[in-house]
Amino acid sequence: MCGIMGYVGPQQAAPIVLEGLRRLEYRGYDSAGLAIIEGNGITVRKAAGKIANLDAVLSNANPEGTLGIGHTRWATHGPPTDSNAHPHTNMQATFAVVHNGIIENFADLKAELEESGVEFVSQTDTEVLAHLVGQYYDGDLREAVRKAVDRAVGAYALVVMTSHEPDHIVAVRMISPLVVGFGEGEMFLASGVPALLEHTRSMMVIEDGEMVSLTADGAVVTTIGGEPIDRSPVDVEWDVEAAEKGGFDHFMLKEIHEQPEVVAETLMGRIDGDHVDLNEVGYTDEFAIDLRKIWITACGTAYHAGLVGKQLFEGLLRIPTEVVYAHELRYSDPLIEPGDLVIAISQSGETVDTLVAARLAKQLGGRLVAITNVPGSALSHEADDTIYTRAGIEISVASTKAYVAMVVVQYLLAMDLGQRRKTLSAEDQRRLGSGLAQLPGALETIIGHDDAIARVAETLVDAQDIYFIGRGLDYAVVMEGSLKLKEISYIHSEAMPAGELKHGTLALVTEGTPVVVVLTQEATYDKTISAVQEVKARGAYVIGIGYEDDDQLDRYVDEVIRIPRVEDLYAPVPAAVPLQLLAYHVARLRGLDIDQPRNLAKSVTVE
Ligand code: G6P
Repeated sequence: MCGIMGYVGPQQAAPIVLEGLRRLEYRGYDSAGLAIIEGNGITVRKAAGKIANLDAVLSNANPEGTLGIGHTRWATHGPPTDSNAHPHTNMQATFAVVHNGIIENFADLKAELEESGVEFVSQTDTEVLAHLVGQYYDGDLREAVRKAVDRAVGAYALVVMTSHEPDHIVAVRMISPLVVGFGEGEMFLASGVPALLEHTRSMMVIEDGEMVSLTADGAVVTTIGGEPIDRSPVDVEWDVEAAEKGGFDHFMLKEIHEQPEVVAETLMGRIDGDHVDLNEVGYTDEFAIDLRKIWITACGTAYHAGLVGKQLFEGLLRIPTEVVYAHELRYSDPLIEPGDLVIAISQSGETVDTLVAARLAKQLGGRLVAITNVPGSALSHEADDTIYTRAGIEISVASTKAYVAMVVVQYLLAMDLGQRRKTLSAEDQRRLGSGLAQLPGALETIIGHDDAIARVAETLVDAQDIYFIGRGLDYAVVMEGSLKLKEISYIHSEAMPAGELKHGTLALVTEGTPVVVVLTQEATYDKTISAVQEVKARGAYVIGIGYEDDDQLDRYVDEVIRIPRVEDLYAPVPAAVPLQLLAYHVARLRGLDIDQPRNLAKSVTVE
């Protein structure tokens, strides 16, 4: 998704802005640009494609100046071309803006501006803001931005500079994230913490509905309306190393390898033998006892984590649970009622679809528990209770460690609710507790089989379509396995409950069609094997993922990937890992851009 970087201080701004944008590359983008105050004017440089293209443009004509703003764009309005890349300026090029998010009423504003004689040079919604600020300017940039923002409807972050005030940057946050970095006699602004880490640890998150104005000496924060806000910067502990690959070829592989530690970290201090201690949740025992309905809302991988959660809450707690895509929840007139528990899951905590659904759930009276990986994220501000996954910064667009952490947190949440409702026996609690404690070791073992999984991946490299099947919790996990594969390998894949295959999709299975089956659930094992036989009878090439002590599997499938024996309830955690590695190796063998797959973004901050 789009990235923003800004700088004002004594140094040359262009290299700092460019480097900041590079640190945000992992969010996904398709063009980049920057604007620098140079002499009495504004110089804009931009280029479609990777930041390297912008770098090449700059190396021929590097603007000199100590204030600048930059942007990586992920196209929404208009294709990824040089002219649609940000920054955008007014006609006199005296104002430049960069913007994340969407201006929903841009068409009306554009028509109005065109009537007043403005000529547009891009197809973006953003350009209207540059013209509006220019028209409203009357010697005070803050006032002009305020008036422009007053006219704009949408969820966005906007950053503005002008040659009339060459030492001043003004920014506004309406949902899309913005962070200010405090240096010595210099100030930074970005859409994400990683862009700022090499310059400073002292940061301030700008909240929704706030405006910040930066000069080299500091930041002034107000509401958009102008009410003063008194907030001090905080020290951020993330280190730059964490944002580097640490010896692995790709962030994705590094993050897969981090999973044993991540699960251990996620559990740390939250479970003691048979007792779960989730001190971050503030609901009462009475709330848990009276609970009749759980909703889970999320998108993408987080939604798949929610599919596992549904089976836990229903299986362990016998509480009806619905999992709804966040973008669907909003428009489905959901039957959420006071007393319902709504769990919003989001790695980034910034996915706008999830934020909006979470807000709606709260308005309807649901108690909102956020499960997120990013401290201080927008979702955590929305929520009544936030449980952090502690997976650490995740850079690869394809989520891995955050997924397992999101699943593990739901085990803890289910146990916490069961404990309060007194529906889990001491024996159940003990068994569940010791099952969780085994997970880091199980993940370690699977990661040790990486070479074998890479060999299996070779059989999939030239596939056109791959089918993933499983039942119950295995179905939840193959949904994620299929998404992982298609995201990064660009091979079409579909996941379905094993029993559903014969009701249609079996028509597509012919000689050599690859089918990946996960078989960890004893209750449905034989039935899933029947589905395997059905696809084998049509010539499918079957890869089976099962427990190390499953001595039947070899008989039915062509390739076996083994995972350590865990209780069936916990199988989604270890079973996810070979699926991640399979996707990774297929994409690697196909020579693709694994960490930044085409058309995708790490955090989708538009609806
Ligand atoms: C994007 C990412 C996915 C992610 C989804 C939800 O589409 O590419 O990997 O699962 O957003 O993100 P969240 O941060 O809310 O978990």
